[in-house]
Amino acid sequence: MAQTSTVSSLCFRMLMLAILSLHCAKATPSVPAIFIFGDSTFDVGTNNFLNDSQAKANFPYNGIDFPYSEPTGRFSNGYNSADQIVKQFGYKRSPPSFFSLLNRSFSFKKRILKGVNFASGGSGILDSTGLQAFVIPLREQIEQFSTVRDNITALLGQENTAMMLSKSLFLISVGSNDIFDYQRRSANTSTNLTAQEFLDALREAYQNHLQKLYDLDARKFGIVSIPPIGCCPFQRFIGKTGDCVKELNDLAKSFYNATETTLTKMSSQVVGMKYSLGNAYAKTSDIIDNPFVFGLKEVKQACCGNGNFPCNASASLCPDRQEYLFWDQFHPTEAASRLAALTLLGGELRYVTPMNFSQLVQTN
Ligand SMILES: *[C@@H]1O[C@H](CO)[C@@H](O)[C@H](O)[C@H]1NC(C)=O
Ligand SMILES: *[C@@H]1O[C@H](CO)[C@@H](O)[C@H](O)[C@H]1NC(C)=O
Ligand SMILES: *[C@@H]1O[C@H](CO)[C@@H](O)[C@H](O)[C@H]1NC(C)=O
Ligand SMILES: *[C@@H]1O[C@H](CO)[C@@H](O)[C@H](O)[C@H]1NC(C)=O
Ligand SMILES: *[C@@H]1O[C@H](CO)[C@@H](O)[C@H](O)[C@H]1NC(C)=O
Ligand SMILES: *[C@@H]1O[C@H](CO)[C@@H](O)[C@H](O)[C@H]1NC(C)=O
Ligand SMILES: *[C@@H]1O[C@H](CO)[C@@H](O)[C@H](O)[C@H]1NC(C)=O
Ligand SMILES: *[C@@H]1O[C@H](CO)[C@@H](O)[C@H](O)[C@H]1NC(C)=O
Repeated sequence: MAQTSTVSSLCFRMLMLAILSLHCAKATPSVPAIFIFGDSTFDVGTNNFLNDSQAKANFPYNGIDFPYSEPTGRFSNGYNSADQIVKQFGYKRSPPSFFSLLNRSFSFKKRILKGVNFASGGSGILDSTGLQAFVIPLREQIEQFSTVRDNITALLGQENTAMMLSKSLFLISVGSNDIFDYQRRSANTSTNLTAQEFLDALREAYQNHLQKLYDLDARKFGIVSIPPIGCCPFQRFIGKTGDCVKELNDLAKSFYNATETTLTKMSSQVVGMKYSLGNAYAKTSDIIDNPFVFGLKEVKQACCGNGNFPCNASASLCPDRQEYLFWDQFHPTEAASRLAALTLLGGELRYVTPMNFSQLVQTN
């Protein structure tokens, strides 16, 4: 049981996939810096620095397809979604985690000017999410960004910093762990919030976080919503029938609507705010329904550990990793993350609204 709750408190996110669209892969709009927030879908090693954190991936087979097969802390066989999005803007991979930059004080000042990754696996929008797994919630990630902004200001001055940040991209992928946590609390009756009350609380907290980032000069938000988390291998496994868990998927869908409402409202109220909202739910559902169209074959089982076993060096490992949607019980493969990034960058309105990420960085 302890094992189960640890595993499911790791976040997850399968994300969106796309048909490769050549014209968008070539055009690389430039952006001064990219700041990244959220959960394990975007974490590139934050949790390695948290001694007590239970949400870690810095061991094999994680990273098996990363350069030198290095397990960096990414919940993936290779590059994760943060890397794949950032690559589309001409970078090699995600900017380093905040803690790893602190650990390299000699290059800190130079590196922060290109961006920082604050994402922490297992974290959520609510401070209570992931609390027992010792991770960094979104609120604290934003506080860390505030420090980095001070450091940039010390280098560039106030005006240039505000200018630079207003043109930078703020990527956020979060929410799945909040829903997992709510579902567990409902099951053990440690919450009596109705689904609607929970969603309202989540929406309000998310809006406060976005407002805080806006107050710190963020203007361009690239937001990835929650995929059909009821269909991840772990949920299919504990569901016994092998089907998707409907309650989780319904919450994910409602969260998308709530987020869209929040963003529409906010961007009409605050000056200069721009956003793109990726509909991970719609895209991932389309892939699960028609994997072959997207170049995938296996959309139910996890490549590492099938779904009934956490991914580590004693788990079973599939050889054809580029054909799997899921790397482990909760997370997408490198191949799936790449398809997701291509959709976010150049996808159509059905998957990313009201504009795609390449259009977002080109707005004034
Ligand atoms: C931080 O840097 C120290 C000294 O270089 C190193 O020993 C340690 O492993 C680093 N910590 C992490 C988590 O990489
Ligand atoms: C984590 O452990 C290392 C080595 O034991 C220690 O140097 C470091 O201060 C600890 N970090 C935290 C945040 O407790
Ligand atoms: C960054 O800013 C914080 C808060 O102002 C400060 O404590 C810290 O020393 C700064 N770090 C660097 C490397 O300048
Ligand atoms: C119920 O689940 C939540 C979330 O996992 C946990 O924090 C809490 O301790 C659990 N409560 C009981 C009574 O088991
Ligand atoms: C839930 O139940 C507790 C006690 O059982 C009560 O104090 C609380 O007001 C109820 N409502 C919510 C929303 O927590
Ligand atoms: C989300 O919004 C769409 C369009 O407004 C609506 O058709 C759908 O029922 C909503 N879904 C949920 C789960 O609230
Ligand atoms: C992998 O995880 C399983 C289940 O938690 C555990 O029994 C096993 O010892 C782990 N193996 C390694 C190499 O960590
Ligand atoms: C998405 O972005 C590409 C540029 O990468 C653009 O050409 C295309 O028109 C956009 N698609 C939609 C549906 O807006």
